[in-house]
Amino acid sequence: MTAVLEVDNIVKSFVKKRNLLGIATEHTHAVKDVSFTVQQGRTRAIVGESGAGKSTIGRMALRLETPDTGAVRLFGEDILKMSTKNVRRLRSRATMIFQDPFNSLDPRMVIGQSVAEPLTLHTELRGRAREEKVAELLQRVGLRVDQMEKYPHEFSGGQLQRIAIARALATGPELIVCDEPVAALDVSIQAQVLNLLQDLQAESAISYLFISHDLALVKMFAHDVTVMRRGEVVESGPTAQIFEDPTKSYTKDLLSAIPVMNPRKRSARRELPSK
Ligand SMILES: Nc1ncnc2c1ncn2[C@@H]1O[C@H](COP(=O)(O)OP(=O)(O)OP(=O)(O)O)[C@@H](O)[C@H]1O
Ligand SMILES: [Mg+2]
Repeated sequence: MTAVLEVDNIVKSFVKKRNLLGIATEHTHAVKDVSFTVQQGRTRAIVGESGAGKSTIGRMALRLETPDTGAVRLFGEDILKMSTKNVRRLRSRATMIFQDPFNSLDPRMVIGQSVAEPLTLHTELRGRAREEKVAELLQRVGLRVDQMEKYPHEFSGGQLQRIAIARALATGPELIVCDEPVAALDVSIQAQVLNLLQDLQAESAISYLFISHDLALVKMFAHDVTVMRRGEVVESGPTAQIFEDPTKSYTKDLLSAIPVMNPRKRSARRELPSK
């Protein structure tokens, strides 16, 4: 198996308090010595309670944040040693989607423009060819081409997340960091968006770093899981193994907090068409 993302012993702290002279007096140790890999065509979930350091890890994976120490290799290259120009170039191969799709889209741009933007930045496509690519991307995420001229406020949350996914897909990424991508959506819509992400993975062997606090979703969606608590890895391994035989009491407590049957989520997923 090929690793698309290798994170080795990353550490990150933020200044929490400064004194009157502006000198840091207190730090938040957001991420303490965290390591994991994401294999090609697979999904690794990072789970843990609020403040565990999940988003900070996701941001460091793409060098949107720089670790204090440790190494991050994307597609075999050490991104911490790379020039910012080269890191920017890598953004066409590794990108991110966020919890709130409304905030990730410019409200003043019609969605066709929003989806075209990464194509302008990272590809040679222009004019008619670019428009055709936008149409293809919108169809791929289950939207109609004639919706291209509409503004974000004219869409539902689930549709907006599809548009954000279309935008993320524009440059043909090999890795997508998904930070709570469905947490803001209704349960039935969550299933649709996750099905879409799974279909895309089956089609193009995309890898996901899937950040979530929802263990029921992680169980359905991720191949591997890393459980975090207060910046540290509690345990890490194949999802089936962690769910069947959690070795740490923290993981057991997290798992026992999953609503037992989760009937709405499961039936929603089974009954809904994949798009
Ligand atoms: N830019 C920042 N400046 C200061 N502190 C930060 C910054 N970003 C994160 N932190 C702190 O680092 C810790 C980890 O934050 P992070 O956002 O990574 O957690 P999380 O696991 O994503 O939480 P949530 O589930 O609530 O999204 C928190 O204590 C947070 O307050
Ligand atoms: Mg977060």
